Amino acid sequence: VTLDLTVEELELGGHDHFMHKEIHEQPESVERMLTGRLDDRFGTAKLAGLNLEPRDLRRFERVKVLGCGSAYYVGQLGASMIEDLARIPADAEPASEFRYRNPIIEPSTLYVVVSQSGETADTLFAVREVQRKGGTVVGLVNAVGSSIAREVDGGIYLHAGPEVAVASTKALTHMSIGFALLALALGRVHDLSFADGQRIIAGLRALPAQIAEILAGEEALAAAAEELATAPSLFFVGRVRGYPVAREGAQKFKEITYRHAEAYPTSELKHGPLALISPELPSVAIIPEDDLVERNITAAQEIRARGGAVVAITHPGVELGDAATSRIEVPRNEVELDPILLTIPTQLLGYHAAVALGEDVDRPRNLAKSVTVE
Ligand code: AGP
Repeated sequence: VTLDLTVEELELGGHDHFMHKEIHEQPESVERMLTGRLDDRFGTAKLAGLNLEPRDLRRFERVKVLGCGSAYYVGQLGASMIEDLARIPADAEPASEFRYRNPIIEPSTLYVVVSQSGETADTLFAVREVQRKGGTVVGLVNAVGSSIAREVDGGIYLHAGPEVAVASTKALTHMSIGFALLALALGRVHDLSFADGQRIIAGLRALPAQIAEILAGEEALAAAAEELATAPSLFFVGRVRGYPVAREGAQKFKEITYRHAEAYPTSELKHGPLALISPELPSVAIIPEDDLVERNITAAQEIRARGGAVVAITHPGVELGDAATSRIEVPRNEVELDPILLTIPTQLLGYHAAVALGEDVDRPRNLAKSVTVE
């Protein structure tokens, strides 16, 4: 018997595209990433690579997250996890902007850079800017031994494995989990209780099986994606923790479908974008079961009332009534970790829309996997 397979076909392992393979690797890769990092005894995360003792971590009064593109959007989510769990102010900024604005570097701020490739020039220069001015900068990096991994003061390796598709998926999921681990460690040296630490650990442990559950619903997601692919333009909307999910969903969609997709905080629709809603402009709405659920449903109804279709990414049991034209359910986790799971369907929406349009999913035009130029 002779096997007539190219190296690429072998690497694809039966998947049509690397992006599809990488999306499906997540349950296993996340399990691997968490191995040895959860400390049940103290209800915290074990992050030796940070090179920061608990007393060092305690001294930080603020966190600034820096990254580019999708890594910046995950950084926004990471900042909200840090505020939620550690109750210290945290925000995210594109590294590409930060380095050009002569930023003020504070010794009491922990700077966190986030990068899959570890070679993004703008992010690397942000590291150097922080260090030049005497700040402490740690990295959430996937590529072992990369430039950023070598230059930061410490960090958390993401262990997502190689990512080939230009549109990042599994590395982003690993970034958001990396932020959850960092937020947990920071939280436990600030005000987060042991019980809350254990609650987050249990939530993290549940992620691999819950991601697998979402991926098992791929067929329904593909059908929704095919419908969205026919629209010339679409919105992704979400609030607070759901807003970075919407931003990343829109980014994924436009990178590989070449369709215009724009993210808005759901709360901002009435301040302008609602004027654009029509039957030609569908929306993907992130509607988790949280304290904003009723407000999110009302906003979706406003979109429906103007003829716009709404694909809702929501939790089981959320009564959407006529607010959605189709619903995609993800299992519930802890409220701070829910955005990790809410993002997974947006990966498959982008992927299947691009396949339906016949686009080159793994190698989108005009884009490189790692942007090593300024
Ligand atoms: C993600 O799908 C994009 N290709 C892009 O936004 C990417 O996240 C960004 O360029 C940052 O890359 P990095 O994580 O390798 O630093």
